[in-house]
Amino acid sequence: MSLRIEPAVKPLVCLLGGTGFVGGHLAAVLSAQGYRVRIPARRAVRHRALRVLPGVELVEADVLDTVALRALLQGCAAAINLVALLNEGGADRFQDVHVKLPRNLVKLCREAGVGRLLHMSALNADAARGPSRYLRSKGEGEDLAHQAEDLQVTSFRPSVIFGPDDHFFNRFACLLRVSPGFFPLACPQARFAPVFVGDVARAMLVALEDPRTIGRHYDLCGPHAYTLKELVEFTARTLGLRRCVIGLGRGLSRLQAAVMGHLPGRAFTQDNFLSLQVDAVCGGGFPAVFGITPSAVETLVPVYLGHRDQRGRLDEYRQRARHHY
Ligand SMILES: NC(=O)c1ccc[n+]([C@@H]2O[C@H](COP(=O)([O-])OP(=O)(O)OC[C@H]3O[C@@H](n4cnc5c(N)ncnc54)[C@H](OP(=O)(O)O)[C@@H]3O)[C@@H](O)[C@H]2O)c1
Repeated sequence: MSLRIEPAVKPLVCLLGGTGFVGGHLAAVLSAQGYRVRIPARRAVRHRALRVLPGVELVEADVLDTVALRALLQGCAAAINLVALLNEGGADRFQDVHVKLPRNLVKLCREAGVGRLLHMSALNADAARGPSRYLRSKGEGEDLAHQAEDLQVTSFRPSVIFGPDDHFFNRFACLLRVSPGFFPLACPQARFAPVFVGDVARAMLVALEDPRTIGRHYDLCGPHAYTLKELVEFTARTLGLRRCVIGLGRGLSRLQAAVMGHLPGRAFTQDNFLSLQVDAVCGGGFPAVFGITPSAVETLVPVYLGHRDQRGRLDEYRQRARHHY
């Protein structure tokens, strides 16, 4: 008689914002660990690639719709909220996405018996003292997520996050490629400690499984801090471009935000300018509870921004980041 061992079936997790940059990486990590993952998408057809991940279910739904959100949470053991906007676009969008959604999510998690919530905030998010509407609304959402005492909540406060398809190095790479020999840069002295998306995803996985993280707020930073000017110069060097990065003073930085905030795509707005008035760096190292040695920008960014052929680049990236997936 042969002994049949059933594979352990891990619980169902609802991953709000799973179609985004961090969400795609976290979905891969959860799927690799055997979790079943339900990902809402406003336009599911755009994210069909997620369906190739084992255990991932893509559902066309708008998480701002209460009826849809209630249905999404049915049968889930945990919810993860990554949904956010960097630029407001229209009136009160930050309130809808960063404040009303977490409030509603907490209420509906309790109704549906979802006991665990991981909430993604941002470094310097602060409802009262945040310098920008983005950071104040993110702070308000984080506070709301932690208010329900019968829900087990952990929140994460990363500095800028990097990895293939990130919104930071890839965006500067595009701008540098089309710029002439010089590159005017707003807020050049703003400081960041970029954290690798694989480290963020792994920290969230650990938190999901480790009860010591319940009720905690974790700042997440990479191993080194840099000024924005240093990071943009590094990006240009990595691309093999000779660009003179010219740091703008406060007045010209504000002017650049005023102009770019009205251009299509709103690549840099007045609110972004205000967010950059406070350094996005951590006081201590990566939280010990996660057992992670964070990866450095210098190790991974050249692999995905570099000018090798696409296949070689991805293979090398996967090799270096192997321990994360
Ligand atoms: N990336 C960073 O450097 C960074 C730094 C600090 C904190 N964070 C935080 O990390 C989280 C994830 O960031 P990310 O870079 O992965 O963002 P992202 O790529 O822009 O993804 C955002 C996600 O939110 C969804 N979303 C936005 N508005 C929505 C709406 N009205 N209704 C439903 N879904 C909506 C998007 O869905 P669609 O695909 O339908 O648009 C997408 O899945 C956010 O909470 C962000 O504040 C990010």
